[in-house]
Amino acid sequence: MDGDTIRRTFLEFFEQRGHRVVPSSSLIPTAPGLLLTNAGMNQFVPYLLGTERPPYLRAATAQKVFRTPDIDLVGHDARHLTFFEMLGNFSFGDYFKEDAIRYAHELVTKELGIDHDRLWVTVFESDADAEAIWLDGVGLPPDRLVRRGKFDSDGESLNFWWMHAAGPCGPCSEIYVDRGPAYGPDGGPDVDEERFLEIWNLVFMQDECDEHAEVVRELPRKNIDTGSSLERVAVVLQDVASAFDTDLLRPLVASAEELTERVYGRQERDDVSLRIIAEHARATTFLIADGVLPSNEGRGYVLRRMLRRLVTHARRLGVAVDVMPSLVATVIERFHGAYPELAANQAFIHQVATSEEEGFARTYRQGMGVFEEEVAKAKASGSKRLSGEAAFRLHDTFGFQEQLTLELAREQGLEVDADGFARLMQEQRERARRARKRGEGAGDLGEVAAEGGPTEFLGYERLDADAHIVGLLRDGAREDSAGEGDRVLLALDRTPFYAEGGGQVGDAGTIRTATGLVQVTDTRLGPGGTIVHEGVVTAGEVRAGDEAGASVDPARREATTRSHTATHVLHHTLRQTLGEHARQAGSLVAPGRVRFDFTHYESVPRDALEEIEAIANRRLADDQPVRAYETTLEFARSQGAMALFGEKYGDLVRVVEIGDYSIELCGGTHVHRTGEVALLRVASESSIGSGFRRIEALTGPDALAHVNVERRLLEEVTEALGAGDPQTAPERARQALARIKQLESELGAIRRTARTQEVERFAASAQDVAGVRLAVARMPGGADELREVATALRKRLEPEGAVVLGAAADGKALLVAACTAALVARGVTAPNLIAEAAATVGGKGGGRTPDLAFAGGSRADALDAALAGIPARLLGLLGG
Ligand code: SER
Repeated sequence: MDGDTIRRTFLEFFEQRGHRVVPSSSLIPTAPGLLLTNAGMNQFVPYLLGTERPPYLRAATAQKVFRTPDIDLVGHDARHLTFFEMLGNFSFGDYFKEDAIRYAHELVTKELGIDHDRLWVTVFESDADAEAIWLDGVGLPPDRLVRRGKFDSDGESLNFWWMHAAGPCGPCSEIYVDRGPAYGPDGGPDVDEERFLEIWNLVFMQDECDEHAEVVRELPRKNIDTGSSLERVAVVLQDVASAFDTDLLRPLVASAEELTERVYGRQERDDVSLRIIAEHARATTFLIADGVLPSNEGRGYVLRRMLRRLVTHARRLGVAVDVMPSLVATVIERFHGAYPELAANQAFIHQVATSEEEGFARTYRQGMGVFEEEVAKAKASGSKRLSGEAAFRLHDTFGFQEQLTLELAREQGLEVDADGFARLMQEQRERARRARKRGEGAGDLGEVAAEGGPTEFLGYERLDADAHIVGLLRDGAREDSAGEGDRVLLALDRTPFYAEGGGQVGDAGTIRTATGLVQVTDTRLGPGGTIVHEGVVTAGEVRAGDEAGASVDPARREATTRSHTATHVLHHTLRQTLGEHARQAGSLVAPGRVRFDFTHYESVPRDALEEIEAIANRRLADDQPVRAYETTLEFARSQGAMALFGEKYGDLVRVVEIGDYSIELCGGTHVHRTGEVALLRVASESSIGSGFRRIEALTGPDALAHVNVERRLLEEVTEALGAGDPQTAPERARQALARIKQLESELGAIRRTARTQEVERFAASAQDVAGVRLAVARMPGGADELREVATALRKRLEPEGAVVLGAAADGKALLVAACTAALVARGVTAPNLIAEAAATVGGKGGGRTPDLAFAGGSRADALDAALAGIPARLLGLLGG
């Protein structure tokens, strides 16, 4: 049975038994406390906890899941995966243990055809119910049932399942399949978990625990959450050694084989790399498809690490070309049927993966250079280890993970100072933590949030509102009151102020109480949905608990709102003009100003940019209505709404629709009709890293102001060029530049002629000093000119000759001396020749080479005297 058939069989089995088949949620989790979605039940947490009413009581999913603790193990054996597909069925207070066990047994033995005699089962040690159902209900022989505790000696969960974050949890029962003696010794899962492979975990979710797995309460209703790894079921049904040999991962291994020209299964060292390439290619493709972008923190960092690990292994197997394009293509080809988001985001995935690979390939090369230097240094000093500083620098500047540096060092017979490295990493974390903490007052804001709950936001409809101050912070600490001049953070029970989010800047304005006034300079989101107003008390005193009138600065908000609508229009126009791959990667929506980052692989030519500007402005002038409404995610998706990252099935989302052409999920503020924006003016287009571009634009009156500034500039340029009309200014400028160039070349020719004549003249006037031809002269010019003449002259004075030239400028004296090779051979060097003269002009000889020397001094008036002494000096040097 191939992977697709197993997935379909599972879902259909439960659909026939009253389960709603729900699509996989995003890898960006909806449950709090998680970095990435780690189980099928994540999207159902509120239903399991009973905080939300489930729309159905039974569900089944094939869920994309990701488990980060295993990243470094992947590849070193054939067992660990970071990304896998988890098949699961769920009951929200409907059926419990009995049905869950019976369904699982029926599906495994009847539909999947795995022999009952090959099954082993574990149960939680005190779960007599589960035990009885397995033994008496489905007839499992007692010697194939294993009782286990909550945790093993390493603290790993055994027959107790939790999210590894606060949330629902409970005892569980696992199903194992005996793969036969070829895979290991007999004796059940306690003896060998390779031969006895776990294929399904049934969790009886009856409790809630905290982030340390301590049970804090019993759940109001008893739920079922099961999870079965599709890859493992495929291993059993296809009777292969590991997931890498199933039809799910084998195509990726094949891609890796082709790229690296290695064969899987020949050499363990190659196999490790092939597995890493295959597994990470699949995982990273799915991450990007869900909107994770490479970065230096959180899930973006997980993605970056994996891409780098993959690329490193490809490089080490000698691949010199980019590997991501063909790997991503294979993943999409293999999985787009079950996960349409892969095909839908194809261009985007390619672009993100490829630019990250290109960027890293560059740093990798530089990093390898640094690594080799460090190795050479260590070896030269007789050390057997690479310093912690070196490892840290490789990590910090070149993105070399510790593991990579370790492996590379080992190949060179070196170890790495791991303690030193760890210390530097710790220091860096401390620095980052302190930087985060500064000025945040996070703890006290959390307290305000806990007391007051989320702030009610009124700002879509109005700009003024009466409210109460529910929290006041001064210098990051909670206070009862604040006086004139104090910087404060204020939380109100309700507010018209928009908190910075979705790229849109926070509102500014005033908060006025009976006794005082606060100028709000910015607004942002605090913990627990509080809206935090930042500002300064400019008059009187304000107190916690006071009634307050909150007023948003209307002009600033209006200008920001225009920008936000303009951003959506621009986004739509970019996709229409450049292609679907041109997706938003970030934005700043500010009063009258927009910065829009998007994915695109080359610069946008001026013509295209003008066309984009023209189309966007035509759209604005069409004056279509802008509608904002709340709806379910499914509806929004069915309408083709963009930016569906991180949203969850069943969630209410806010949709902003412009005319019939643009639809986006967005929490920002917008104009009512596009005509209100009036004008969008693109100011610049530039690169912000490979694969990402940035457009800066101005909107509304600010766009007009920008045009005026440009017009004034052009007028000034026209005037400066003496062109009566701006139309002729470019031609004038070109002509002027051409003329300058021509004059420069003419001047150069004149100078060269003059110099030749000068050289001739000086040569003719050379005197004879004991058989050596010596030219001494004054000339105008700087060091370069003097050197040029001196070296030309020297040639004319061969074989034994010397030149000393002097120049005076701005009261300073400059001397240059040159000697022919034959003279130098006789022991007379240029620095020596001018040493005395240099002293005479009050400076020092600056010898550079024996045949050419410079000197400078502050006494131009002594230049003649200095030059006059040269013949005697030469004679002296010649020993005469
Ligand atoms: N939540 C359990 C697991 O992930 C069963 O689905 O293993």
